[in-house]
Amino acid sequence: MKESHEGFMHKLDKSAVLTVIGILLLFSSAVGVTLIAPSYVDPSWTEVASPYQRQMYEVADPNLYVSTAATGGDELQLAYHIKDGYTLLAFAESETVRIIAPPELEKYVTRHGESRLKLSSKLMLLREANAEGDRGRQATALQEKLQSQWRSSHSQSAAKELRMPRFDILELYEPEAKEAFALAETDGILENWVDSEFVILDEEVKQRYHEDPGVLYVSNPKEYRIAPFRFGKSSGFQYDPNGRSIASLDELKSPELGFMSREELIQLGEDIYRIEGCWYCHTDQTRTLVQDTILNGSETNAAPPSSANEYVYQRVTFPGTRRIGPDISRVGIKRPNRDWHKSHFWSPKTASAGTIMPSFRHFFDDDPRGTSKSPVGIPNYKFEAIFQYLMTKGTRITAPTQAWWQGRDPVQTTKIIEGQKKV
Ligand code: HEC
Repeated sequence: MKESHEGFMHKLDKSAVLTVIGILLLFSSAVGVTLIAPSYVDPSWTEVASPYQRQMYEVADPNLYVSTAATGGDELQLAYHIKDGYTLLAFAESETVRIIAPPELEKYVTRHGESRLKLSSKLMLLREANAEGDRGRQATALQEKLQSQWRSSHSQSAAKELRMPRFDILELYEPEAKEAFALAETDGILENWVDSEFVILDEEVKQRYHEDPGVLYVSNPKEYRIAPFRFGKSSGFQYDPNGRSIASLDELKSPELGFMSREELIQLGEDIYRIEGCWYCHTDQTRTLVQDTILNGSETNAAPPSSANEYVYQRVTFPGTRRIGPDISRVGIKRPNRDWHKSHFWSPKTASAGTIMPSFRHFFDDDPRGTSKSPVGIPNYKFEAIFQYLMTKGTRITAPTQAWWQGRDPVQTTKIIEGQKKV
């Protein structure tokens, strides 16, 4: 036994032993580097860039729902899931929208002309104040007053030319429920953000992001109520202010209503971007090179180069290597328009005649037998997903009000380009 063992060791070439030791050393040092190195990485690579970015993904996205199914067509419907003690709400008047409120809710209304926005985490909603009774009379009186003010401030000839605006009188009320689904007015990009001149009226806010310097809020929420409709052979549900409330999140996400959270859509969009191979032709990085920052910027300000922390919420990143099409890392700012993307995916040649970008007609539901006269397809969830994904590109580094093209450039691109500052 002893003899054969010695014999084996004897036969083993010395270099083989060294190779094995070498492999073990390499392996253990690789493990060591992987474990130790991250604590020396600049934290700005792995942490979100701004409280705004965190709020957009962690607070707003999971609570904003998107659907096209409810209208049975083209129109995008957005609903916020608002919760008592959690969501910040603002009830703000404008030139043409006025709010009447019972005395106990009066303090939550930001009156027309007040510069400081009042926010509250108490669940309240607005509704058309055309009901009978005291509130109704109060609304009619206010509307008539505004109309006569408008008439007296416009000369007769001007009044003939201009149409009198519809003065909406909304009533603030407290629903019985602890949560509600509210109609959202947005074109797919969230912009309800305040970073100055606001006050939160109640202390009972159950989520910590409200302590950040700026906050996301829902402006003038009205309940998203639905009523069944039937048109020809199709039937479904649509928004109807006099319809019934949505009972639960499950109902909102049911196949009939078809709402998906924006977060889910963005993740799906990421998958579609991968599966469709968009990254063969597009890069997703604004390099520090002048041509990138200028091309992705605006007339007055260059775009900031991409930084690692912009991608922290992505599961897969697609920096890309070839630019057959333009870079898409700032496309949410360059092209925020949903209609533009609709026509571009349906037929890229409408946007630019010589493009080799293929059309993506499976992002649309059209008549498979081709008997429909409408040449434009109705966008389906795939379009919605890729659109929402594209809209995250460049829009979430800072609050919209701080955006670099308005002069506050977070990474000081201009200085980098002019050589005054090193990257
Ligand atoms: C064969 C190459 C190719 C593929 C694949 C491709 N594109 Fe494009 N894309 C282009 C070209 C070229 C342009 C520039 C001309 C134009 O607007 O069509 C472009 C333009 C765009 C634009 C407008 C960008 C801007 O700044 O004007 C967007 C957005 C876009 N593509 C998204 C996508 C997405 C999303 C996919 C995958 C679903 C995709 N593309 C797949 C080549 C491609």
